[in-house]
Amino acid sequence: MKTMKPKILVTREVFDDVLEYLSKYFEVASNQSDQPMESETLAVKLSDKQGAMITLSEKIDATLLARCPNLKAVCNIAVGYNNIDIEACRKAGVMATNTPGVLDDTTGDFTWTLILATARRLTEAEAYLRAGQWDKWKLKQFLGLDVHHATLGIFGLGRIGQVVARRATGFEMKVIYHDVHRVVPEIEQASHARFVSKEELLSQADIVTIHVPYSPATHHLIGKSELERMKPTAILINASRGGVVDDAALIEALRSGTIAGAGLDVFENEPKFNPEFLGLKNVVLAPHIASSSKATRHKMAMLAAENLVAALTTGKPPNLLNPV
Ligand code: 8YV
Repeated sequence: MKTMKPKILVTREVFDDVLEYLSKYFEVASNQSDQPMESETLAVKLSDKQGAMITLSEKIDATLLARCPNLKAVCNIAVGYNNIDIEACRKAGVMATNTPGVLDDTTGDFTWTLILATARRLTEAEAYLRAGQWDKWKLKQFLGLDVHHATLGIFGLGRIGQVVARRATGFEMKVIYHDVHRVVPEIEQASHARFVSKEELLSQADIVTIHVPYSPATHHLIGKSELERMKPTAILINASRGGVVDDAALIEALRSGTIAGAGLDVFENEPKFNPEFLGLKNVVLAPHIASSSKATRHKMAMLAAENLVAALTTGKPPNLLNPV
């Protein structure tokens, strides 16, 4: 008699070969139409499943877990996992995994995209050109901030922060960082980064870039008083998580000239971000695409799939977040 394959749910559209790989091991239900699911729909669809491959759009909490008695593993297609209540998973005996490592370079590259575009006012200048407003060359047109030889301040010298720091060498920058713990000397040396206090970082950096995970401890890490410590010529870059920056305070700082500009890939309450950003010229906006190169999004989805296969076959997924 044929043994039944475990049932899994893939909550959002993924690459065909990832689905094919999963189908070898599982009976796969997948949402290839890619409509984000309300929590009730998710609970119903997951109620008879042993595993789930999910994205940041799906919240996994105790209420949901209580409705999924067969669930053994939830595998995030993301390195950040603030959408998953890890403790609730542990209590429910559900393994949770993420996708560390495979997206560091791509996310670091995109951070530089935001740094350069924001410093040199690229989207503002392009909008002006596209609107047919370019009638003459002007010496003082779109004067920006020099990136070369500037001071780069990095919050969070983890894997992605280190990539960003290493890329700064080509721009001959001074790199300073702050983190909850000072990193080991080898990493400081490889990153050419000097540890400073939060206050020093804010007051010395020309470019402040954030690479910390979101948690209650990092909620509004950058708010009104932090923005006021920054130089009025400085720019703020966030490709980490919405909620690490107080968006209302940032909008006010951008409007009043407390800081010169911001480059943002993430927002509070995304995708329904604060519409006041749209009225500001000194902000470069992106829809959470820092890891979105073809190669990297594929690696992320495949790694999540491999975690799910390992979780349900051996009980030892490579990127387990809640070992017991
Ligand atoms: C993902 C991310 O694309 O990995 C993360 O934490 O923020 C992005 O790389 C997104 O979260 C998809 O779930």
